Amino acid sequence: MQKRYLMTPGPTPVPAEVLLTQARPMIHHRTPDFNAVVRACVEGLKYVFKTDRSDVLIFASSGTGALESSIVNCFCAGDEVLVAQGGKFGQRMAQIARAYGLDVTTLDYGWQQVVNPADIAAHLSAHANTKGVIVTQSETSSGILNDVEAIGALVKDYPDCVLIVDSITGIGAVECNTDDWNLDVVMSGSQKGLMLPPGLAVTSVSPKAWRAYERSTLPKFYFDWLKYLKNLEKDTTPFTPAVSLMIGLAEALKLIRAEGLDNVIARHARLAAATRAGCEALGLELFAPPTGRGNAVTPVWVPEGIDGKLLVKMLKDTYGVTIAGGQDDYAGRIIRIGHLGYFGDFDIITTLSALEMALLELGYEFEPGSGIKAAELVLMQAKRTAAR
Ligand SMILES: Cc1ncc(COP(=O)(O)O)c(C=O)c1O
Repeated sequence: MQKRYLMTPGPTPVPAEVLLTQARPMIHHRTPDFNAVVRACVEGLKYVFKTDRSDVLIFASSGTGALESSIVNCFCAGDEVLVAQGGKFGQRMAQIARAYGLDVTTLDYGWQQVVNPADIAAHLSAHANTKGVIVTQSETSSGILNDVEAIGALVKDYPDCVLIVDSITGIGAVECNTDDWNLDVVMSGSQKGLMLPPGLAVTSVSPKAWRAYERSTLPKFYFDWLKYLKNLEKDTTPFTPAVSLMIGLAEALKLIRAEGLDNVIARHARLAAATRAGCEALGLELFAPPTGRGNAVTPVWVPEGIDGKLLVKMLKDTYGVTIAGGQDDYAGRIIRIGHLGYFGDFDIITTLSALEMALLELGYEFEPGSGIKAAELVLMQAKRTAAR
């Protein structure tokens, strides 16, 4: 038997409480029992998204369904939109927008660059007809955290332009203040900070985004936001929902509320800091720049002379620890350690320990135990600070 550890930025581990609720016998979705589940999900999501003003819609789809929904519900073919892209998921938003015939301008950042809000400000002042700004808050491919608060402060002054935020690995890991930051559409997926299996996507829709909906003429059916809103008024969904996942979501949201959102985010910050310290103590170089490091995933350069794909395979096969490799140009060159959702201190220690053993086996030289020691010190310091 080998015990397995899932240390990827999605899917993420699912707490036993959530798994057990999902194992209950199926219930029918057109019943008061399920209406109560919908209510609990929406109320809990509003708490996590920090919104009273926006509606929160839930789809049976992967996160990409939410991304696609934001395009078809906010725009018309030919609309000018600006996509700030600095990684795989920013690129995906541009691809979806192009697939629907939008007039897409991209601000292209390298995967190690943070989006500069001044570039967005400059574009908006030169292109008054821009109907949408699209940005990834937490870019999972690079670990970069973009300042959507600053971008929200800019876009709010353009009454006909909506700000669409992919927070699929942001929600529940970093601050994402939908109302206070003027974020019109915020999207997440179940297999991330919400601590569920894959299969649900969530989107918040602000009053300004509803105005964009009113003028939007792109074809839509399954992801037509208004269908979801009208059904939400009756605590239900337009189509057969992912019943078990929603029952699980209600339970996961209870756990988040019990911990308190601020504490959840502080835990993610602590785990991210410990992971970074542990990797740096091993002499590994962090991929994301200090100005934009998120809490969801830590990407790290694979040291010279080490085969990154073999490292990921060895961690999984020999030590039972699944981490993610790099994507696209960075495949084999970086590794990505996830700490998003149901993670605690000792998940980080376990992962760093396995990483040390695998690196030693692959011939990389360092003081064994140095990564774990550095991480322990960060974790202990954080606990001491929190107790004060
Ligand atoms: C930032 C981000 N956006 C979008 C997606 C796409 O979500 P899904 O794979 O659930 O469709 C992911 C998935 O990892 C992601 O991390």
